[in-house]
Amino acid sequence: MVKNFNIPFFKYPDLFSKHSRELMEVFHDVSSRGAFIMQDDLSNFEARLAKYTGINYVLGVANATDALQLLLKAGGIGYGDEVIFCSHTMIATASAIKFTGATPIPIEVGPDHLIDVNSIESAITNKTKAILPTQLNGRIANMDAILKIADKYNLQVYEDSAQALGAKYKGKSAGSFGVGGCISFYPAKVLGCFGDGGAVLTNDESIYNTIKLMRDHGRDHEGNVCMWGFNSRLDNLQAAILNYFFDHYMFVVERRREIASLYNKQLKDIYEVVLPPSVNSDNCSFDIYQNFEIEVKKRDKLKTFLAEMGIGTLIQWGGKAVHEFRDLGFTQSLPYTESVMRRSLLLPINMSITNEEVEYVCQCISDFYNKSI
Ligand SMILES: Cc1ncc(COP(=O)(O)O)c(C=O)c1O
Repeated sequence: MVKNFNIPFFKYPDLFSKHSRELMEVFHDVSSRGAFIMQDDLSNFEARLAKYTGINYVLGVANATDALQLLLKAGGIGYGDEVIFCSHTMIATASAIKFTGATPIPIEVGPDHLIDVNSIESAITNKTKAILPTQLNGRIANMDAILKIADKYNLQVYEDSAQALGAKYKGKSAGSFGVGGCISFYPAKVLGCFGDGGAVLTNDESIYNTIKLMRDHGRDHEGNVCMWGFNSRLDNLQAAILNYFFDHYMFVVERRREIASLYNKQLKDIYEVVLPPSVNSDNCSFDIYQNFEIEVKKRDKLKTFLAEMGIGTLIQWGGKAVHEFRDLGFTQSLPYTESVMRRSLLLPINMSITNEEVEYVCQCISDFYNKSI
């Protein structure tokens, strides 16, 4: 096949160039009001997210890693505690646990790339305080099973829902199942800002009240310092940008689901490719497809071939599960997760890619295996 496309994994400049006039208006409006820290754009954005997710409280913070750490701290996780998480996740999940003073305990991923619920019970010790599933790639784990185990052993549940804003499981949004969840507004996220940004989601009023203080140096609205805190506020300008993009959020999610369907349809007959769950694979899940993660044979060769054909792909976390970062002190061996990490590849899925380009990506993958390149 003749190379005739240039499809980067993610076109960062498109975030601005496709909306430049409207975004300049946002910038002008916020700047001319001098509304930079903890202003109306932030509280409006928080209220809109709460309404959209059906979750009582939303707080904008500096990034999702902070959001998770603040949640864990507010929930009482600390020294001597163990928190179980899935090793196929960003290091941020584990570092948020670590910096509370607790010990992150990695366990296996399942075939759907979400926490393997069958591996949870054997990881529970008398120090275990919480289970922290990552709602990876825009899809929610089997929360019925997780909540049942949590109930049996009297454990808390937190969600790393950084990749899953608006994803649903049995009609409930990511972030609503336990103490709370986090959202990341990193630019390449389904809802991204122009830098770092994040949010805490919680239905628990006391967790909300605590994090509201903690994100702003422990100060209340009168400037009284009530507790030790952090500086972890979502900038008002970022909130205004997010408000602008949020107007189109449902359309964006629908488009991503359309792209996922196209990939699924066109790749389903290639024996060497294992696909993620399809858009309507079960009636429990509403997947927002933050990522389209396939498992393939000869992964690295395929990646190189696709690059030669002008197609950008990405290997999440550089191809290593969290427990494989031995410098951090992990000693576990998780064979299934390690094998997934050697085979996984993210295909481009974003608002820049066209259907024709998706078809080209699929054709190239098909050529690679059919012609044994
Ligand atoms: C699963 C997961 N957890 C946590 C994070 C951290 O998010 P942030 O960069 O906003 O701190 C990310 C970001 O990519 C993520 O994908």
